[in-house]
Amino acid sequence: MFPNFAALLVFSVLCLLSLVTSGSGSSSSSSDTLNDGRRNITDGQTLVSAGGTFTLGFFSPGTPSLRYLGIWFSASTDAVVWLANRDSPLNDTAGVLTVNAATGILLLLDGSGRTAWSSSNTTTTNGNNSSSSSAAAVQAQLLESGNLVLVRGTGGSDVLWQSFDHPSNTLIAGMRLGVNPQTGAEWALTSWKYPTDPSTGDCRRAMDTRGLPDCVSWRGGAKKYRTGPWNGLYFSGVPEMASYSDMFTNEVVVRPDEVAYVFDVKPSSASKPPFSRLVLGEAGVLQRLVWDPASKVWNVFAQAPRDVCDEYGRCGKFGLCDVNTPSTLFCGCVAGFGPVDAAQWAIREASGGCRRNVPLDCRAGGGTTDGFKAVRGVKLPDTDNTTVDMAATVGDCRARCLANCSCVAFAAADISGGGEGSGCVMWVGDIVDVRYVDKGQDLYVRLAKSELAVNENRRGMLKILLPVTACLLVLACIFLVWICKFRGMRSRDIQKKAILSASTELGDENIELPFFSFRDIVTATEDFSNDNMLGQGGFGKVYKGMLEDDKEVAIKRLSKNSGQGAEEFRNEVVLIAKLQHRNLVRLLGYCIHGDERLLIYEYLPNKSLDVFIFDPSSKHVLDWSTRSQIIKGVARGLLYLHQDSRLTIIHRDLKSSNILLDVDMSPKISDFGMARIFGRDQQEANTNRVVGTYGYMSPEYAMDGAFSVKSDTYSFGVILLEIISGLKISLPRLSDFPNLLAYAWNLWKDGKPMDMVDSSIVDKCSPTEVLRCIHIGLLCVQDNPNNRPLMSSVVFMLENETTTLSTPKQPVYFAQRNSEAKETEENTSSSMNNMSLTVLEGR
Ligand SMILES: *[C@@H]1O[C@H](CO)[C@@H](O)[C@H](O)[C@H]1NC(C)=O
Ligand SMILES: *[C@@H]1O[C@H](CO)[C@@H](O)[C@H](O)[C@H]1NC(C)=O
Ligand SMILES: *[C@@H]1O[C@H](CO)[C@@H](O)[C@H](O)[C@H]1NC(C)=O
Ligand SMILES: *[C@@H]1O[C@H](CO)[C@@H](O)[C@H](O)[C@H]1NC(C)=O
Ligand SMILES: *[C@@H]1O[C@H](CO)[C@@H](O)[C@H](O)[C@H]1NC(C)=O
Ligand SMILES: *[C@@H]1O[C@H](CO)[C@@H](O)[C@H](O)[C@H]1NC(C)=O
Ligand SMILES: *[C@@H]1O[C@H](CO)[C@@H](O)[C@H](O)[C@H]1NC(C)=O
Repeated sequence: MFPNFAALLVFSVLCLLSLVTSGSGSSSSSSDTLNDGRRNITDGQTLVSAGGTFTLGFFSPGTPSLRYLGIWFSASTDAVVWLANRDSPLNDTAGVLTVNAATGILLLLDGSGRTAWSSSNTTTTNGNNSSSSSAAAVQAQLLESGNLVLVRGTGGSDVLWQSFDHPSNTLIAGMRLGVNPQTGAEWALTSWKYPTDPSTGDCRRAMDTRGLPDCVSWRGGAKKYRTGPWNGLYFSGVPEMASYSDMFTNEVVVRPDEVAYVFDVKPSSASKPPFSRLVLGEAGVLQRLVWDPASKVWNVFAQAPRDVCDEYGRCGKFGLCDVNTPSTLFCGCVAGFGPVDAAQWAIREASGGCRRNVPLDCRAGGGTTDGFKAVRGVKLPDTDNTTVDMAATVGDCRARCLANCSCVAFAAADISGGGEGSGCVMWVGDIVDVRYVDKGQDLYVRLAKSELAVNENRRGMLKILLPVTACLLVLACIFLVWICKFRGMRSRDIQKKAILSASTELGDENIELPFFSFRDIVTATEDFSNDNMLGQGGFGKVYKGMLEDDKEVAIKRLSKNSGQGAEEFRNEVVLIAKLQHRNLVRLLGYCIHGDERLLIYEYLPNKSLDVFIFDPSSKHVLDWSTRSQIIKGVARGLLYLHQDSRLTIIHRDLKSSNILLDVDMSPKISDFGMARIFGRDQQEANTNRVVGTYGYMSPEYAMDGAFSVKSDTYSFGVILLEIISGLKISLPRLSDFPNLLAYAWNLWKDGKPMDMVDSSIVDKCSPTEVLRCIHIGLLCVQDNPNNRPLMSSVVFMLENETTTLSTPKQPVYFAQRNSEAKETEENTSSSMNNMSLTVLEGR
């Protein structure tokens, strides 16, 4: 068997060579054609287009035994531009592609002569049908454009079928993305399932022709991303398209038989135009790749979606997304509207959208005092339910919208003529998916008269109020600093200053944080009985307590040698009390009694993360989607500590036992109470008192005591890998590797990252998501803090499958060092391995 196979291989290589060499010869060569001279190609043989740019043949993108017929870019065999049998692979190399001259059909046959794929089901969209041809002179030809055409007659005028009409996940110059309104036929991209499996995946990109033409990416039944409507020059959400018009022509062709996006690469004067392809990735991200023949790599020229605001309808109805706001919510409302549910918005959930502040004044029969406010520089909302009139002027449009009570907004439909544009698109009902873009369009939103006036007034007021407030703030700062001096605060400790300036920065509204009497606490914990103790660590002990109203709380009794003064402690507590986020454990109150310092937290009956993921009998409780939610929740909580609370708070002891789970298994970070609070501009600090838990501590922190937000990123990476693998970082050895990091890295490097996934979730998880998480985890645990991402990027990468991830560097430090790990420095409070510093949860 084997010698035969080898012979076949040699034969095919020779064939291929002869094809390639003859390819550049005269037209008598049939290397790009199947016709009477040569009716079929078998596995190993290829067709090569006349200029050599494209190759048609059999290949295996993943499992070597599964064979697919496809067309690829000759210089880069993994750039597959078309596939025939994506959902019906051949399981051996006996496949044959043949042209049936009698029926005029292209057939892909397996070894036993059965049809694996044929062109018959797929009629060409010009209305002609491939089975109606006469027997003679039907031939298939792979054109230099990458199009495989089946034509009758040698002239090639009568196209029976062409591969360009049946895209897979790739669009190249000359192909269309759109619809034929006459036949209903559609040219759309469909993603592969995995990078190694070309079968039809869940993502789709198609032209939506309701309203104005708009290219939309779908995942399953959900819209994920729109380019925004075509405005004659570019898609309204992608104005940058116009700026690279020196390289590509982008166009939406509108004809009776075709509404479609097409692009072409402009020939540069110097050489052949570069080859470019648009590829819809497995996760729904569309990338424009450009081939660099010199370095033989694909450069990512553009990508969509680009950022969070590209996420479809992120800010709900009448919401307006802005990537340049400091808040990670990125959402606001269009002028004249406010959040429907402010509480939801406060916890960073804006999908409920916005509602009108003042109702419109619209009476049937005309006569209205409403007007319009321009929202400038945006991607126009979804035009699905709009009325479009390309012939109208913008002035007509305004009048029409005003005259129709259900019209809420309008815009110019075509701006190619310059000025304010022409044409009219009018929205009724809700407007969704609006965002700011550079050089975006103007959207005119209908508002009640009073609202138009109010806005003007408010702006006037702001002009006065802002400077006044600023002056007051400065005065308040000076006053506070003076008070502190006056009270004789001797220490010049950075942290204290930071706390002070931070509390003024938050605008100390005299937060009402309950003060608990020591007697109440003694009662609640039954005099700190050991039965009520939940955990113990370097900061002190944690007890469960029952308050008089039967409310359960967790009480942290700080160790007496904390060395913190009463005022300093109160300041810090007030700060912590202001940190409210659904992924942080809430502080309910505090107590100072002599040199006792106590913190009262909400009590969470469910245990901590480590209790679930490391316990073979409870692992299954956390399935992949729950774990993924936990990972995202922890990341958000940490981001809040680092950035969104407007202070920089470094946790320093993040570990799986410090992640508590509430009844819904949603994670809450605990023990951030005594974390380090940084001043606003402080980037990094040093300590000679290393607190933390070995394994979760970043190299620079464990070794030099240097910590920054990136040390928390490191700990987060470790927790992430623990959650996915169900393995503890502190396990002494893991199948020949010193620890979890080395284990994860090596599997990743060897291309078998799925091997590390916890067996209790591996069957039901989405490999794409898991792989992405592992990738992010490895980015977080890199040795050099500068290489680790900020938590804002981590959250972004976790929530947007859109971003391309950089390649992680090998985490060598702990991976090698762990086995010889010794106690670090004078870390009285550093806990080794499993021992926790402070735990709130029950054991
Ligand atoms: C392919 O062509 C060869 C001759 O070129 C012929 O012998 C063979 O039967 C053909 N195979 C099929 C499946 O048509
Ligand atoms: C290969 O596919 C054919 C049908 O296409 C089937 O009869 C045969 O059993 C398959 N062989 C293997 C090894 O799966
Ligand atoms: C092709 O047509 C046959 C019968 O006409 C049908 O059974 C088969 O499902 C069709 N295949 C596709 C991909 O539509
Ligand atoms: C359809 O086929 C007829 C001949 O059968 C040809 O004249 C006509 O041009 C074809 N239509 C298109 C759009 O190619
Ligand atoms: C396609 O061919 C079939 C049979 O040859 C014929 O009945 C049908 O009308 C043709 N369709 C078109 C659109 O030409
Ligand atoms: C268009 O209207 C339909 C039916 O009312 C609705 O389901 C859909 O969400 C609307 N689309 C947009 C973009 O508002
Ligand atoms: C208002 O506009 C909607 C949508 O374009 C349309 O269906 C309706 O008939 C219009 N009403 C009037 C009174 O023109």
